[in-house]
Amino acid sequence: MRTVKVPLGDRSYSIKIGNSLLSRLGSECRRLKLGTRCAVITDRKVGPIYSKAAMSSLREAGFEPVEIRVPAGETAKSLGTIHACYDKLARHRLERSSFIVALGGGVVGDMAGFLAASYLRGIGFVQVPTTLLAQVDSSVGGKVGVNLKAGKNLVGAFYQPRLVLCDLDTLKTLPKRELRAGLAEVIKYGIIDDATLFRRLERRLPALLKLDAGELAHVVARSCQIKAKVVEEDEREGGLRAILNYGHTIGHALEAISQYGKYLHGEAISIGQVAASKISRDQHGLGQAEVDRIEALFATAGLPTQVTLSKKETTKLLAAMKLDKKVSGGQVKFVLAKSIGRVEFGIEVPQATIKASLH
Ligand code: NAD
Ligand code: GLY
Repeated sequence: MRTVKVPLGDRSYSIKIGNSLLSRLGSECRRLKLGTRCAVITDRKVGPIYSKAAMSSLREAGFEPVEIRVPAGETAKSLGTIHACYDKLARHRLERSSFIVALGGGVVGDMAGFLAASYLRGIGFVQVPTTLLAQVDSSVGGKVGVNLKAGKNLVGAFYQPRLVLCDLDTLKTLPKRELRAGLAEVIKYGIIDDATLFRRLERRLPALLKLDAGELAHVVARSCQIKAKVVEEDEREGGLRAILNYGHTIGHALEAISQYGKYLHGEAISIGQVAASKISRDQHGLGQAEVDRIEALFATAGLPTQVTLSKKETTKLLAAMKLDKKVSGGQVKFVLAKSIGRVEFGIEVPQATIKASLH
């Protein structure tokens, strides 16, 4: 098992990464000195596969867990789901020392994290991420929340988990399209911070796609280390944390104009990262050879790298970028690469350059 620490003073925690970890959930929670009652929040796809193991491990360690299943998919990240869960927590008499276990992908983790942040003004919270995206990104760093009709993640909090337990075996049942989508975030870490990781992915991506245990453990741990380092320096996104959004400005807008139906998040940010690389070339000195390597790596991962947009769609996309919650004073700011492994944030880009990157 590998352990990555997220050092945040009295809110510090460990990310534990390895195989067969679900059976250790109970004993790992014991170390946290939490109360006896807890709720395992999961969804209707993950629950039937993994909640039995999670619940028995918790019971064997002396906890009294209740399981709450929510629908699978982005629609579960809503205030309606939160409301229904509050009632169930109250019925099970969860108290201040009780805790919530989020067993699932980023949807369950974000929603259950917000539930934990707000119920009784905050109870303990353990992340058990079961998608690659959740293991390398959403379960780490404390961004929790739900969507509104007006947009994604508009209600939320910064609320750190007490522990993140990444059982790599859970990825065996993950649909391949979801696995590839998670790889888009892994490649992102190479571009923003680690040229060695990027080179390793260029060589070892096929092994990763076949879920090679050693490769997977290395890549998940390295991704978590990079995210932990950024979060340690800038937990509340005053500055540096923006680099985690490389390729997300265009990616989020693409998700929004396609009503969150056409692309998975990882697919949209794959297109967004390739476009951001072209913008980086045009105004930030990234070499064409590096743009080509970036595009080739996303393609090898089986991710889309380009989008064909009509004039009307391009106008919609540019407008959607301005609605992103990270826009300040109406100004869209980009994260751009100087080279693979080195990026800068807060950069203004003319509309014509953005348009050119999409064609
Ligand atoms: P998801 O949670 O919807 O999971 C994808 C699908 O896979 C779902 O149908 C789920 O039921 C299923 N699934 C999950 N684990 C499985 C497994 N092991 N076997 C079989 N099926 C499994 O999607 P996601 O990609 O994990 O997360 C996306 C969400 O994460 C979005 O809401 C996004 O906003 C959020 N996110 C948050 C952060 C953050 O910092 N908090 C960062 C990135 C993304
Ligand atoms: N996924 C972006 C962040 O955690 O800041």
